[in-house]
This record gives sequence, structure tokens and C-alpha cells, in this order.
Amino acid sequence: MIIGILKEVPPEKRVALLPEAISALKELKTDILIEKGAGEGAFADDKQYTEAGGQIMSREEVYERSDMILKVNIPNEDEIKKLRPEQVLTGTLNPLMNREIVSKLREKNITAFSLDAVPRITRAQAMDVLSSMATVAGYRAVLEAAFNLPTFFPMFMSAAGTIKPAKVLILGAGVAGLQAIATARKLGAVVEAFDVRSAVKEEVQSLGATFVEVEGAVDDKSAGGYAVEQSEEFKKKQGELIQEHALKSDVVICTAQIPGRKAPLLVKKETVENMKQGSVIIDLAASTGGNCELTENDKTVVHNGVKIIGNSNYPSGMPVDASRMYGKNLINFIKLIIDEEGNMNLNFEDEIVKGACITHDKEIINERVKSIFE
Ligand code: NAI
Repeated sequence: MIIGILKEVPPEKRVALLPEAISALKELKTDILIEKGAGEGAFADDKQYTEAGGQIMSREEVYERSDMILKVNIPNEDEIKKLRPEQVLTGTLNPLMNREIVSKLREKNITAFSLDAVPRITRAQAMDVLSSMATVAGYRAVLEAAFNLPTFFPMFMSAAGTIKPAKVLILGAGVAGLQAIATARKLGAVVEAFDVRSAVKEEVQSLGATFVEVEGAVDDKSAGGYAVEQSEEFKKKQGELIQEHALKSDVVICTAQIPGRKAPLLVKKETVENMKQGSVIIDLAASTGGNCELTENDKTVVHNGVKIIGNSNYPSGMPVDASRMYGKNLINFIKLIIDEEGNMNLNFEDEIVKGACITHDKEIINERVKSIFE
């Protein structure tokens, strides 16, 4: 099988595979074509790819000759046009939020795999790009908050007096939230975290943060480690408690999400208006509407002296390790869909392959995506 790696559309800096990952793909008996300059944003030049065993080509040639195309971001219209019928596309499509893209891929008879749709089961952890990218985002979110805060994160006792540590409130303790807790603690902040899933309480506490509980949360174990929609009564209670804690915080990091839904609204405008001037809110959920009412996607808003940062692509800001993690996830997935001779071998009995497959043979395969088309 011939696998092609495209240059992502700027300003994206990540690349689907770094040169260091090429040998792992070659071991799977595949040939690898790389678009000229594909790795530039992640500090990987064409020579490194060639030395690793890949072949550098033009964008057109990669499209024409590859059996499978690897990508980081959702393909745009032009990229979809260039795909050939029956070609395989493996990347991240966010299919529940991108019906039109899914329709186009189906119409064109593309076999599309979206690694953000792999089920969150133990065997699939090594392919979970959402977790990898959320790890990067949780880490960067805290660094960005620290950089923007007009005060220190750690406590200092100096000849010039004692500086109190920053108070950080983290909303949502999934992958990004837990990474944010760990990073904020390492920088010396006092950290509190909220989540609707009580299962994360121990993890939050073991990282040195206080878990703030709101009684009465609906915690559906069958949701596979994800949160479910909460009752109006719960939302009201939670809103009041979040407000109480946000007013005492210097930084709020928002990471709450319910997959396939608009992000839950947790920080109201009124709360922001009562927060300390100079406080910082980092809203990782910006691309799905934000957890804060004042968040604007990919913008920074200052409201009454509170900075609300809605950057929705932190992984692109750390392209080397983000590409490294993404590439490892991709390779672990590719191992599932090719045989020992390097040929495509799709086993839809495997729940990971079936879950990740969005379109194949002009059908929608992933059950959840299929249900939104019915
Ligand atoms: P996750 O699903 O692992 O964690 C989300 C957490 O939010 C879960 O623990 C869930 O129980 C909790 N939650 C849901 N509703 C809640 C509520 N009402 N109150 C409190 N907690 C609630 O998700 P992950 O992977 O940690 O991602 C978090 C967010 O970060 C997502 O919105 C994701 O799209 C975003 N993200 C942003 C990036 C960026 O660069 N801005 C990059 C990667 C992810």
C-alpha cells in the first residue's frame, strides 16, 4: 500500500507523521510519499523524510499515487475534490459536527477513518488522538494563563514580602482538565476542579487539587467515560457554586464537554463581571461554543479587566510533540487495518475499526454518525 502525507493548510503547523515515524510505517511493508515541505511547520525538513525512507513529491502526485492519505485537520472542500474514489483518508473529521463533510466523502466513495471516533476503550488508548491533543491543550492552557496573569503562580517568600500563590479553577476533569491540574500544580498554584463525573474525584485529588462536588449529577456509566446532559436543577446549583469559586480564583480553565453537543455553559457573563480584574479565563471548549458566555472562538476578549482566551488550536502551537503523539496514534491504528503484506484489510467485526470508520462503500459505518443521518 502507498501512504501519502500532505502538508496541512496554514496556519496549522502539525504534520500527520514526523520523519522519525516513517520507519515504523515501512516495517508494515508500505511505501510513503510526502508532500514537499509537509513537515516545515514541525521543524522536519524534506531531507529528514528522505533519509528515513520516504519519497518527496508534489501535492498533486501525493493525491494521485497514494492509496491512503494521512491528515491532521478536517479536509477542506478543495482537498476533498482532489481525493480519488475508493481512496482511504485517515485523520480527524469530528464527524458529529461536520455532516456536510461526511456527506461529501460518502458521495465520493472515500473510505474515511476518523481517529476522534475510536471508542474510549483500553485497547484503543494508543490510538486516541483526542486524548493526545487534549494533553497538549491542557498543558498549554496553563502556560498561557500563567503568561497572561499579572501575578505569580507560585507562592514566594522574599525580602520584598510574601506573594500568595495563584488560585486556579478547572472546569471539567477529563484528559485536558487533568493535564491542566498537573501543570498548574507543578507551577505552584492552588487548584480546585469541578466535574459531573464523580469517578474522577480520586484522580483530581491524587494530583493535589481539591474536588468541588455538586450533588445530584447524572453520571451515566454507559456513556463510556463521557459526561451526559444534566438536569436544569443541577445546572442552576452548579452555576451558583462555580460563580462562588470563580470569584475567588485568578485563573479559570474551561474544559467541560459532552461529545457531539454544544459545550455546557458554566461561566456566565455576570460571573465574569464579578471576577477580579486581571483574572484570566482560558476556554478550551471555544470551538464548540465555549464554557464561558463571553468566549469568542479563536479570539481574546477583555471584559471588565478579565481576559477570556478562546484559542481552539493549542496543539498547533506545540507542533513537534503534538505531531509526534498524533503520528504514534495513527500508526497504531494503521496496524489494525492492514495485513502482513501491507495491504488493506478491513475487519468491521473489530469495534475500533468499525467505530473509526465513518464512510465506506458509499455507506456510513459508525453507528452514532449514522444515527444523525437517519
Ligand atoms: P473529556 O471528555 O476527556 O473531558 C471533558 C470533561 O468535562 C469530562 O470529564 C466531563 O465529565 C466534564 N464535563 C462535562 N460536562 C460538565 C459540566 N457541566 N460540568 C463539569 N464538568 C463537565 O474531553 P477532553 O479531551 O479533556 O477535552 C476537553 C475540551 O478541550 C473539549 O472541549 C475539547 O474539544 C477541547 N480541546 C481543545 C483544544 C484546544 O486547542 N483548544 C485541543 C484539544 C481539545
